[in-house]
Amino acid sequence: MRRFQAFEIMDLPGCPAWVRAGEVDALRTLTSLVRVHRATAPLLAEVLRAHGQRRVVDLCSGGVGPLAWLWRDVENHLGKAIGVTCTDRYPQVRALDALDFESRQRISYHPDPVDAADVPETLDGVRTIFEGFHHFTPSLAERVVADAVGKGAPLVIVEATERSRWGLLVASLAGLGAILSAPLSRPRHRAALRTARDIAFPAVPLALSIDGAMSALRTWTPIEIRAIAAPRLAPGWRVRSCRWRPLGVPLSAVVVEPIPREPFGA
Ligand SMILES: C[S@@+](CC[C@H](N)C(=O)[O-])C[C@H]1O[C@@H](n2cnc3c(N)ncnc32)[C@H](O)[C@@H]1O
Repeated sequence: MRRFQAFEIMDLPGCPAWVRAGEVDALRTLTSLVRVHRATAPLLAEVLRAHGQRRVVDLCSGGVGPLAWLWRDVENHLGKAIGVTCTDRYPQVRALDALDFESRQRISYHPDPVDAADVPETLDGVRTIFEGFHHFTPSLAERVVADAVGKGAPLVIVEATERSRWGLLVASLAGLGAILSAPLSRPRHRAALRTARDIAFPAVPLALSIDGAMSALRTWTPIEIRAIAAPRLAPGWRVRSCRWRPLGVPLSAVVVEPIPREPFGA
């Protein structure tokens, strides 16, 4: 399937803030229930270990995304405590209210807008992007990689969408998933209100299904991301990729990193 640079409702500057926040909150709830991203934990731990890092700087965090719970799996694989700094062009700092006490000790949200193509040097750590890379045009995607390489930050790009008929179907079901999972959303005291809103006036589930379909249509394959990254690599850097299919969901990761001095696992 050819890539189509579709737009997403949440990317439009005129998108109402409550729709954007509703979409990213629903994504966090869904990914917390299904936990397909668990497959990426050993890889994230390996990258942190290889580069002597204990901090993840998450770009395009939205409502925190899978790191809301994935940090525990990463810590288990790494055997050390980690910290996560969430960032976004439209920061959703209130999303932290949905996290449990322990997660709030590990995860913070940078309150100012952060463009994935121009991350402040003060935000030091292994960069991750979950379900965000497909938002970028080819030139922006190149700049995101160039910014990480230029500032010496390893970058892990994770996508749970795929440009295929199956990927399109799975992503289009996100709205239905949002309605079904709303009663389990956090914080608990807002779950009933959210469920009633999504049933009576399903703007968020509709936007999520449309954005899910658009995401699938513009998802880069790992091979395409490697081709974008390759010309941007500095000497001594490399790019590699992995794919999984947990519960039938297409999941991939591309790692852009300096070649570690010590072998992995050392
Ligand atoms: C589909 S959401 C993913 C949110 C979260 N990572 C998750 O997995 O649930 C994509 C996010 O990317 C953000 N975004 C899009 N373009 C961006 C850019 N150039 N810089 C930073 N964030 C961006 C959007 O604001 C949105 O919150």
